[in-house]
Amino acid sequence: MQANNPFTPTFGIIPPFMAGREELVEELSAAFAHGLGDPNLCTIVSGARGTGKTALLSFMGEEASSQGWICANTTAAEGMLEDILQQAESGAWEFIESLERKHLSGITLGQFVGLEWENASGDPGNWRTRMNRLLDQLGEKGIGLLITVDEVKATVPEMKQLARVYQHFVREGRNVALLMAGLPHSVSGLLNDEDVSFLRRARKHSLARIPDREIRGAVALTVEQSGRTIDGAGLDVAVEAIDGFPYMMQLVGYYMWAQHPGEREISAQDVARGVSRAQKEMIEGILEYTFRDLSKGDLRFLVAMLPDQKMSAMADVARRMGVKSNYASQYRRRLLEQGIIGEPQRGYLRFDMPGFRDYLATRVEEGDLA
Ligand SMILES: Nc1ncnc2c1ncn2[C@@H]1O[C@H](COP(=O)(O)OP(=O)(O)OP(=O)(O)O)[C@@H](O)[C@H]1O
Ligand SMILES: [Mg+2]
Repeated sequence: MQANNPFTPTFGIIPPFMAGREELVEELSAAFAHGLGDPNLCTIVSGARGTGKTALLSFMGEEASSQGWICANTTAAEGMLEDILQQAESGAWEFIESLERKHLSGITLGQFVGLEWENASGDPGNWRTRMNRLLDQLGEKGIGLLITVDEVKATVPEMKQLARVYQHFVREGRNVALLMAGLPHSVSGLLNDEDVSFLRRARKHSLARIPDREIRGAVALTVEQSGRTIDGAGLDVAVEAIDGFPYMMQLVGYYMWAQHPGEREISAQDVARGVSRAQKEMIEGILEYTFRDLSKGDLRFLVAMLPDQKMSAMADVARRMGVKSNYASQYRRRLLEQGIIGEPQRGYLRFDMPGFRDYLATRVEEGDLA
């Protein structure tokens, strides 16, 4: 029987093997096990498009659930607080129901969650009050609540409200965890916001380029666990094209697999074809969007990096732009925050988003920046 293609080149989907996230996943899993007081319970993750933020949140949500936590997943936008409350409530119901089915608990549904929502005056109270009521009941049963927030932004008022109330939950000794993710510039915007300075103490992780060795292992495992094989030379070609980028790993894997899904071996030719198809998709799916979001100043900065083959000295970039270094620095910072460029050495920059350099060079040649 022909195995299904195991690669997941779709945004937000948890891949069968998460490359390069072992340490982070272990830290967070241990935090769920320790509970109250573990510093990793409040964590914020940043990364460029396609680095696996959403997949990580989903994965950690599943991990928390498997450890008996209830999980409410939301995205930073208006209505997120209500969303969190409703998900937490329905999660609590399901959890108790499953305990009842297994006859593991003396609790019955009627005794739990939701029956006492309204106080005598019929006023359900504000969000914090309602959450507290739920958390009190979860707390009695020793159940923790994980809240995950994707695409965080300081510009969403409810995001700030969540951060403030979360601080109270922590002070009140409630078993809660907050795991957030966003693009680098949104995360730094949030962390620089005076209103939520509490978040500066959150654990911070940036999802940087994944080492080739780990990409290689994850590709090989994904292929082998689904019953096919790939030789070392094929893997080398795939790993080089993937260049440490999670979304690209799924694209390359998916298309090399899809060439001859009925064959046992993924041949060198399958890999070559898969890579070229993946590169095309990468341009349409990521590079074009990123390009469109850049300001004129950002673009001038990046174009000024093009003459250098590997790394660009900041001083050269400013000179080519015809501006002072401190003026150019504002663009440098923004591009760093977006994960488009990196600063491997102080004062030196390089393109970090895979394929972006070539894409930009092509657009320049085609006269698109004139
Ligand atoms: N650790 C990983 N190893 C391999 N593949 C991964 C990993 N994490 C995510 N992926 C895959 O990468 C792709 C992008 O993942 P995801 O949607 O989580 O990115 P994202 O950072 O949330 O992107 P965006 O900023 O656009 O929302 C998906 O196809 C997903 O299956
Ligand atoms: Mg996402």
